[in-house]
Amino acid sequence: IVSQENPARGRHHPKMNKPNSTDKLTPKPKVLITGGAGFIGSHLAEELVNRGFHVRILDDFSSGRIENLGNIKDLIEVFRGDIREAKVVDEAVTSMDAVIHLAAKIDVSKSFEDPELYHDINVHGTLNLLNSCVRKGVRKFIYTSTCAVYGEPLRLPISEEHPVNPLSPYAASKLAAEAYCKAYANTHNLNLAILRLFNVYGPRQSNNPYGGVIVKFVESLRNHKPPTIFGDGKQTRDFTYIKDAVEAIIKLLTNANVKGEVFNLGSGKSIPINWLAETLIKIMGIDGIKPVYLSPRLGDVRHSQADIRKIVETIEFKPKTSIEEGLKLVLQGA
Ligand code: UD1
Repeated sequence: IVSQENPARGRHHPKMNKPNSTDKLTPKPKVLITGGAGFIGSHLAEELVNRGFHVRILDDFSSGRIENLGNIKDLIEVFRGDIREAKVVDEAVTSMDAVIHLAAKIDVSKSFEDPELYHDINVHGTLNLLNSCVRKGVRKFIYTSTCAVYGEPLRLPISEEHPVNPLSPYAASKLAAEAYCKAYANTHNLNLAILRLFNVYGPRQSNNPYGGVIVKFVESLRNHKPPTIFGDGKQTRDFTYIKDAVEAIIKLLTNANVKGEVFNLGSGKSIPINWLAETLIKIMGIDGIKPVYLSPRLGDVRHSQADIRKIVETIEFKPKTSIEEGLKLVLQGA
């Protein structure tokens, strides 16, 4: 059952700015963010509110936190509910111009323990949402997928044309949902973009039990414990700072007219996990701590680096935050 916690209060808050003149949606577009109380969703909700959008979130609060919505929770509509329930989703998409779909199970390792749950939420949940969007006439849909769909890369950087080869139930579920998104974009009046996110990080990620490697390292080091590295630490990731990710998502929402196209969203840089541990130890000024090495995680991709030319050209997006700056911002909780 969906419960509406803040029925559209504060829609006319004085702090709200007008949307950019480049916005191609209606003057005050109404956007539903699924998973809006999570790490990426809450940053996105905040920025959309600042830019004058009408924001509604749908979250089951299994990992999302109302505290993530801090100063905006009275300015948005908060729906509590499960994306697997058609009725809930129907209510949530009603009267929305656009949907940004972030709600998902996201942990690679845990997906091996309960693949059905990952399938159910990530695939069935997405299908539900697509069906509701068609029923309720939503015209714009952004699906956030993952670079995990590429599996072990055959070449770097990884472009959108790189073959897909999921290595975990998580990656398989995200790819299966992509296929539904494409099918609906091809057969319905749906302006739809598929975004393959590369390791997004930033403040507030720690409020999520799935927090990625950066959060885990920072938390260990703050407790004067060694960071744990799975494998030899020479594996690499392309870390995308949250504010850059949010900027790209909003640009796609307002400027891009696409029918089921796939876009990589990353920084374009490849960072070894060993470098990450050493750098955090250095900038946190902690002496005498060295990482502990355990065996590699099942389903872990060895290398990752996004080719971001397509998104850069399509929406004139440029990632602004270097990993060094981003780590400092995480430490400041900015
Ligand atoms: C992350 C996301 C996933 C997303 C993908 C691509 C999380 C939990 N997962 O997966 O949803 O689809 O990026 O954007 O955010 N590592 C350690 N020690 C630790 C934790 C991790 O060595 O304590 C290593 C891992 O083995 C891996 C790398 O660091 O090689 C990154 O791990 P993690 O941050 O969990 O992210 P991904 O598995 O890449």
